Amino acid sequence: MSQRTKGILREMGLAPLWRLRGAEEVEVEVEAPAVSVAIAPLPIEAVPTPARPVETRSALREALAPLAPVLEAAAPRREFSTDLANLGWEELEERIRACDACGLCKRRKQAVPGVGDRQADWLFVGEGPGAEEDERGEPFVGQAGRLLDNMLGTIDLKRGEDVYIANAVKCRPPNNRTPETAELAACFPYLSRQIELIKPRLIVALGRPAAQALLNQEIKIGAVRGKLFSHASIPVVVTYHPAYLLRNMADKAKAWEDLCFARNTMRGLRNGE
Ligand code: URA
Repeated sequence: MSQRTKGILREMGLAPLWRLRGAEEVEVEVEAPAVSVAIAPLPIEAVPTPARPVETRSALREALAPLAPVLEAAAPRREFSTDLANLGWEELEERIRACDACGLCKRRKQAVPGVGDRQADWLFVGEGPGAEEDERGEPFVGQAGRLLDNMLGTIDLKRGEDVYIANAVKCRPPNNRTPETAELAACFPYLSRQIELIKPRLIVALGRPAAQALLNQEIKIGAVRGKLFSHASIPVVVTYHPAYLLRNMADKAKAWEDLCFARNTMRGLRNGE
């Protein structure tokens, strides 16, 4: 592993990469992720898979090229009969704070709409508020949030600067359990409206519930990371949730690959204008 890679991982708070119990530290070379294109709600297998490493700008451009016509052609993936369509930020956040569309409202201290630059190119979507977020009304302010901030830093991003952070559900699930499918569905119109208002160039889904909400299908992170999906014609990259990474050292290098993939994708999108 190069010194630069080691440095980046250290910055993210991710070094050492692998430490086997009773064994010496073993380091694994981080490979460039493969890229393929998929459009929800198609089954993952049904999409074209160029599956080649993105190592150069021209390779990235080539890899992204199929995306343009496909995104153009993408059909609306869900119908929502909500009345959020015309709401601006203030009304939307009011609605989120007053929401009682699912049982999560009963035990929340407050709903947590999201935070950051409302015209950001980058949107990061987490799972749902934890105890500290419920207390403070801001997403990712606990331990996982500190890791997220470090992760953002490794690709030269900073909370609030061209970055918006939201969650798939806006109210804390009791005991930080995973949000249920019905809760994700009940809350999705809020995320959807946030996306419409922000118009990000790229969405990064952090963890399975966020990815499932955005892609409208059951997924396994290991199967979808390194691939490009779309929600409402906006490219979506999926990676591990920071809270998961805090517990699973072995996948931290993969998260770093995913962030590099996201950064390269963003560069490609910007250059493609
Ligand atoms: N985990 C999340 O998914 N979101 C938060 O806001 C905090 C922790």
